[in-house]
Amino acid sequence: MADRNPQKDQMAHESMVRTLRLQTMAVWPQEERILNTYPKPLGRVLDAGCGTGEFSWRLANGFPDCTVNGVDILADSVARAREGATEWDEGSRRVSFSVDDLYHLSFADSTFDFIACRHVLQSIPEPELVLNELIRVGRNGARLHLLVEDYAMIHHYPTQTDTDLFWHQGPIAFGRATGTDLRVGRAISATLRRLGVSDVKLSYLVIDSERVDRGILKGIFESWRDGYADVIAEHTELTPDDVHAAFADMIGCLADPDGYAVWFLPVVSGVISK
Ligand SMILES: C[S@@+](CC[C@H](N)C(=O)[O-])C[C@H]1O[C@@H](n2cnc3c(N)ncnc32)[C@H](O)[C@@H]1O
Repeated sequence: MADRNPQKDQMAHESMVRTLRLQTMAVWPQEERILNTYPKPLGRVLDAGCGTGEFSWRLANGFPDCTVNGVDILADSVARAREGATEWDEGSRRVSFSVDDLYHLSFADSTFDFIACRHVLQSIPEPELVLNELIRVGRNGARLHLLVEDYAMIHHYPTQTDTDLFWHQGPIAFGRATGTDLRVGRAISATLRRLGVSDVKLSYLVIDSERVDRGILKGIFESWRDGYADVIAEHTELTPDDVHAAFADMIGCLADPDGYAVWFLPVVSGVISK
């Protein structure tokens, strides 16, 4: 069987803590606007693959009508997520975390009213199996809220090299070599419809240097570099120097006050129908 968690070392790397913190800081203001459009109360929420709990805590704090169960396969991430209780006391009575496997969740059928799964499906093989499991634990009428990457939609200007090409030859090729699809975002709407999910909607968060603090964006590319540069080179035809040069180019673009960077991030929602 294919490795079900081919990025476990990267997920456990110290840079991932920075990545998840900075990504959520960049994404939350636009994501909150989408969350506000969903029917309330959110009710019982599953944060599937919660990592360090950045989203679980923000959700519980921002939406007092919900209780949040965050689950992750990595015990260290779950332990770190629990530490959020010191930072986010308002939500703390309504948030809990446990170790669980998205391919075989320990929850009963039809447990949840709202299921979030953010930045996970690009990192695992056979995401359809996980989607089936999320549907199983959602009740009839529950909402799915998925942030699903498409790493062909990250662009910088100006750069010294063709960084659009880098995303194909580097990260996307790395994904292919490890059994994952780093452009899964463009495929998920059709997959959800095929699985019987109704009211499927795709929108995009525009994480760019016009809308997001440039320092936060720069930090995201630095932490991606720290966690992934070497493993990308290991699995592709690019050398470590090539990969580091591409990240330096993108980070340099963000250091230039006139440089522009954009990361289009697909958000797919739908309603579980049973
Ligand atoms: C990039 S992180 C995203 C974390 C969080 N959702 C966020 O948006 O900040 C992906 C997470 O998925 C988790 N993961 C990967 N495979 C999993 C599995 N089979 N079951 C549970 N969690 C898994 C990883 O351990 C990692 O913490």
